[in-house]
Amino acid sequence: MTLDEHLGKPEFYRDPYPIYHRLRAEDPVHWSDIMGSWVLTCYDDVVATMRDPRRFSNAGRHALSLDRLPEAVREKARPIYDHYSVGLIHSDPPDHTRLRALVSKVFTARAMESLRPRIQVIVDDLLDAVQPAGQMDVMRDFAYPLPVAIISQILGIPAADHEQFRYWNDGINELTASGHTTPANIERGLPSFLHLRAYLRRLIAQRRQEPQDDLLSALVAVEEQGDRLQEDELVTTYQTLITAGFETTMNLIGSGLLSLLRHPEQLGRLRADPTLIELAVEELLRYETPFQRNWRVAAEDIEFRGKRIGRGQLVAQMLGAANRDPAAFPDPDRLDITRQSNRHIAFGYGIHFCIGAPLARMEAAIAFNALLRRFPALRLGDDRIEWREEIVFRGLKSLVVQF
Ligand code: HEM
Repeated sequence: MTLDEHLGKPEFYRDPYPIYHRLRAEDPVHWSDIMGSWVLTCYDDVVATMRDPRRFSNAGRHALSLDRLPEAVREKARPIYDHYSVGLIHSDPPDHTRLRALVSKVFTARAMESLRPRIQVIVDDLLDAVQPAGQMDVMRDFAYPLPVAIISQILGIPAADHEQFRYWNDGINELTASGHTTPANIERGLPSFLHLRAYLRRLIAQRRQEPQDDLLSALVAVEEQGDRLQEDELVTTYQTLITAGFETTMNLIGSGLLSLLRHPEQLGRLRADPTLIELAVEELLRYETPFQRNWRVAAEDIEFRGKRIGRGQLVAQMLGAANRDPAAFPDPDRLDITRQSNRHIAFGYGIHFCIGAPLARMEAAIAFNALLRRFPALRLGDDRIEWREEIVFRGLKSLVVQF
C-alpha cells in the first residue's frame, strides 16, 4: 500500500488513522511521490528526528519543495523562498538559538498567564453573541475568532483587520496545505502572502514610530538594539507567530469538541469533574492532532531504519500518526480524557517545541470549560461532518452544534 493511493480521497481525510496504522506496520519509513518526501509514522522515529537537528534540519525545508517547481514559477515564488529562508521556525542553531532567546524574552509564561482574564472575557462575549440563536457553527462563531482575537491582542493587530487576516491566512495555507507546493497553489497563495508581508512591514514601521505595550513593539525594540534581529527575521518570525497561533488552536477547539460530543461518556466525566480539563486537553491534542504533518530536511546522507535518506530530501514527521502509535500509547484509538503519562508530540519535541503551547492549552481549557458550563444540553446539530481535505492541518470545515 502507498500513501499516494489515498491522498486526495475524502475517506482518507475523514479518518486517516487506519492508513497511518498500515503504513506504520508495513513501511514505517515510506516514500511519497506526491508529497516529495519520506513519511515517518512511528512515534520513536519522529522523536528521534526531532532530537537531531544537526542531521534533520529546519533550514531551507520549504525552499526545497519550491525547487521542484518549473523554473518560471520558481522565479515568481522567489519572495516565498526568501521568507522561508530566515526566522525562528525556519532556522537551525546557532541562528535558531539566538532567535528563540529573543522571542522567549517577550513570550514568557508570566506574560501568557496574564492573558487569562482577557481570554475569559473574549470567550464569554463570543458565547453571549450566539446564545439567543440556540445554535452555532463552532468553527465560524467560536473556534476561529477566539484565537485570532487573542493572538491579535498579543501581536498588536487592530480588530478591524481580523477578517482581512483570515482571507490572507486561507490564501497562504493554500501554499502547502496539500503537503506539497504546486504552480496552482502558488497562483492562489502568492497574492495573500505578498499582501500580508506588506501589511506586517507597515505595522512594524508604525511601532517603530510609536511603540505600544505589545509584543511587536518589544520585538522591534530588540531589533533596534543592534544587529541581533534583522528586519527580515523580524517579519518572518512575526508572521510565524500569527499563523502558527490560530489555525492550530482553532482546530484543537473544533476537533476537540467533536471528539467529546462523539464520546458522551467522556463528555459526562468532564462535566462531572471540571478539574479533569487539563488532562482532557492533552488527550484531545493527541487524539485529533491539529498540526498533523511537520517536516525536516536531511542535512547529509542518512541511513535510517534500513532506508537511505539522501542529503537534501524532505522528511515528513506525521505527528497525528505518531500520536496514535500503539508502541507509545496503549489502545491509541480510544479517547480517554484521564489518560496518564500522555507523552503526545502535538506541540513537537526538542529545540523547536511550540513556543505557544502554554497559551494554546490555556485557551482551549477556558473555551471547553465555558462551553460545558453554559450549555448543559450541548449536542451535534448536524451529522454531516466535513473535514478539510488537507494533510498539514487537521480540522473541520464547520461544526454545527445546538444548545
Ligand atoms: C493547539 C495549538 C498549537 C499546536 C498544535 C502547535 C504545534 C506546533 C508544533 C508541532 C511546532 C513544532 C514545529 C517544528 O518542530 O518544526 C510548533 C512550533 C511553534 N509554534 Fe506552535 N502550535 C500551537 C499553537 C501555537 C500558538 C498559539 C503560537 C503562538 C502564539 C505558536 C507558535 C509557535 C512557534 C513560534 C513555533 C516555532 C518554535 C521554534 O521554531 O523554536 N504555536 N507549534
